[in-house]
Amino acid sequence: MKLPSGGIKLIKKAVIPVAGLGTRFLPATKATPKEMLPIIDKPAIQYIVEEAVDSGLQEVVLITGRGKDSIIDHFDVSGELEYYLENRGKKDLLKLVRDISNLAKIIAVRQKKPLGLGHAVLCAKEVVGEEPFALLLGDDMVDTNPPLTKQMIELFLKHQKAVIALRRVPDDQTHLYGIIEGDEVAEGVFQIREIIEKPKPGTAPTNLAIIGRYILPPQIFTILENLQPDPVSKEIQLTDGLLKLARQKNLYGFVFSGDRYDIGDKFGFVRATVAYALKDPQLGNKLRSFLDEVL
Ligand code: G1P
Repeated sequence: MKLPSGGIKLIKKAVIPVAGLGTRFLPATKATPKEMLPIIDKPAIQYIVEEAVDSGLQEVVLITGRGKDSIIDHFDVSGELEYYLENRGKKDLLKLVRDISNLAKIIAVRQKKPLGLGHAVLCAKEVVGEEPFALLLGDDMVDTNPPLTKQMIELFLKHQKAVIALRRVPDDQTHLYGIIEGDEVAEGVFQIREIIEKPKPGTAPTNLAIIGRYILPPQIFTILENLQPDPVSKEIQLTDGLLKLARQKNLYGFVFSGDRYDIGDKFGFVRATVAYALKDPQLGNKLRSFLDEVL
């Protein structure tokens, strides 16, 4: 990839689109952002921001929309709550609350109209500028060690190619994802040739699906700006932009190992809750006995 002169630019920012309406989760999302639904005791968005921070990214750009202010509040200082906890000597809770507001520098940009994922990414253009960045989709929760975004940043820096996360999915689920075709250049690393966004059931060329983690060069903004929106939905598809990178031989895919949960889906959300509860030191054993009892 031809980076602007000045050599390799460090990746400092994570872009997280959170403007979606959460229709798959109604009625819970009627007045509450889907990103604020908790997995155990933490809102889903906090796990995503923690992944970014654990990957070395301290600046988080949230692409928000109407009704999403509680997400920003969650990462802000809560003066009254801190005062209350301090006065009552609740030191542990005070630390818990303070740590969240110290987690990252949060920058919020409003996406005024729901014009697709490509458009949401484009909303980050002014804030990101001429730097590569990570894009994390809140519906995809991943549990990997090291953090998936960190592994992908390393690949980006090594190969100087954009990187997207991939996972093999069952044949009857390919219609839910962007599906790639490519050549394996190292174990689990594909040079991508072709991408088909949500192919009709039975028509997918492979079962390698795109999962919501991307490391993208700033050139993606110019590509997205020049794309024609879909004539019917008026949306700008990120996948169309990724395909342009692939055609320039500038797009790698990385098949990662570890767990992944689609928490925008009800069953995926339940799976994540059970998996995280089983790992929780306070809840794990209790849940195991409860499951034994009911099954
Ligand atoms: C988006 C992308 C798709 C990708 C998916 C991963 O779709 O368009 O290519 O496979 O995220 O979760 P969405 O699930 O937002 O419809």
